[in-house]
Amino acid sequence: MAKTTADKIKELQELKAKIALGGGAKRIEQQHAKGKWTARERVAHLFDPESFQELYIFTKHRSTASGMVGKETPAEGVVTGVGTVNGREVFVASQDFTVLGGSVGEMHANKIAQMFDLALKCGAPVIVINDSGGARIQEGVTSLSGYARIFYRNVLLSGVVPQISVIAGPCAGGAAYSPALSDFIVMIRGAELFITGPQVIEQVTGEKITAEELGGADAQMAHSGNVHFLAQDEEDAFRICKRLLSFLPANNMEDAPDYSGGELTFAPNPVLNTIIPDNRQHPYNVKDVIMQVVDRGDFMEIQERFAANAVIGFGRINGQTVGIVANQPMYMAGVLDINASDKIARFVRFCNSFNIPLITFVDVPGYMPGIQQEHSGIIRHGAKVLFAYSAATVPKITVVLRKAYGGAYIAMCSKDLGADRIAAWPTAEIAVMGAEGAVSIIYRNEMKEAADPAAARQELIEKYNEEFANPYQAAALNLIDDVIEPAETRRYLSLALESLRTKRELRPQKKHGLIPL
Ligand code: HXC
Repeated sequence: MAKTTADKIKELQELKAKIALGGGAKRIEQQHAKGKWTARERVAHLFDPESFQELYIFTKHRSTASGMVGKETPAEGVVTGVGTVNGREVFVASQDFTVLGGSVGEMHANKIAQMFDLALKCGAPVIVINDSGGARIQEGVTSLSGYARIFYRNVLLSGVVPQISVIAGPCAGGAAYSPALSDFIVMIRGAELFITGPQVIEQVTGEKITAEELGGADAQMAHSGNVHFLAQDEEDAFRICKRLLSFLPANNMEDAPDYSGGELTFAPNPVLNTIIPDNRQHPYNVKDVIMQVVDRGDFMEIQERFAANAVIGFGRINGQTVGIVANQPMYMAGVLDINASDKIARFVRFCNSFNIPLITFVDVPGYMPGIQQEHSGIIRHGAKVLFAYSAATVPKITVVLRKAYGGAYIAMCSKDLGADRIAAWPTAEIAVMGAEGAVSIIYRNEMKEAADPAAARQELIEKYNEEFANPYQAAALNLIDDVIEPAETRRYLSLALESLRTKRELRPQKKHGLIPL
């Protein structure tokens, strides 16, 4: 007997219910036993209730050349679709580990690629939740070509819509490269991210290491700098994604959401007058400055435990998202080394892509000296900071808090790298180098000839500091626009940002420049 309409609707309902179960109850139980959510539970936690629309749910793998995939692969092991997060459109792909370990076959990749294409057309951010055994071995080279299509789209979307990767389970081999091509990686404690795992490493190099030590969240945050946010658990990961999205525009043609209004004050803040220690050699926490300057003390730090000598992150001033870059005197005196340079340059590039103004707080003794730094390419890496700031056309505002020496003075968004406003605190020291180094070079003969060289040296250091370690020489030459009382900083930044809303900076047409890589 032919199926009635009611039969067909029932059949559809049953099919969808079966697909929604992914790899089945047992696999889901195993996923939960590992403390992990399923692909669909993750989607449910990310999106506003009732807002998610799943796409390509009936996708099946085709009988591949190898024909080895004998099993059912509901939804092809990845949930894709679109919904709203705090009312704003976001696209998602959430890999389902309960289906063949979330492995990426041809059609699995096809779903992700189609979702990327739609996100590009709609100008909405993308989140990919990675939980996968990597290329689906049975599908052979088609799974590799699938990965390549995903990478290609990561690059097409780069600089057009924000891309966030969540590492929620295994993410090994080439699979790690889609996250690496995205803008931000949020990694959940317990997940694993590496190119080759411990067994292969031991076979090839003889080195022994656990998976956690090699590619766990702590290692990937602190050693490699691959990870931007460390999540304690699944819930934390989605909280981080939502907070991050709140700072970002939907795409490169829009501005970030405006959170102005409410109780925002711009009155002088006396706390800022007390942060810089009297002793010029003593450290302080630059995050204390940032917290006092941004709206409601709300600062979202990125790569907190990587290259801690530089601090980067998002805040708001008068409701407008700003990207904040700062040297951190509490860690390696805030020196610019290879890792700090990479960290700063990448962030500056992100902000510039997405119309986010940059605020730079400077307290930097210089670029890092040392054989290891030179041989590892401090010239090439340090040049990234120069390139990124010079290329950035968003509003750029710099505040020199204390030291601004040498090449690092230039690099930290000095006026000649295009800062639209640059102010200094009265504690600023702007010079070619610090007093100790300078005195040894320019007063070498005086010290040699002095009856008491040590006393002479001390005297000359004091003289040099008196003459050069202040902001007024630079201000007299218009290299600093103003010397401001620290308490006035928030007001200064707010007025500058307001006036720079209309900033337009045209550059010569070209395909692209060559950032030192
Ligand atoms: C097909 C896979 C798979 C894969 C896992 N499964 N990985 N199926 N292709 N790559 C299947 C398993 O056979 C199993 O199915 C189910 O998923 C769950 O896997 P388990 O091993 O039981 O889970 P677990 O113990 O948690 O271990 C997870 C794992 C492990 C660490 C990810 O499965 C693993 O090592 N997988 C292989 C990883 C790998 O080498 N991938 C290829 C990388 S090369 P059944 O039905 O038996 O339960 C690559 C190239 C990409 O990715 C290149 C892009 C440029």
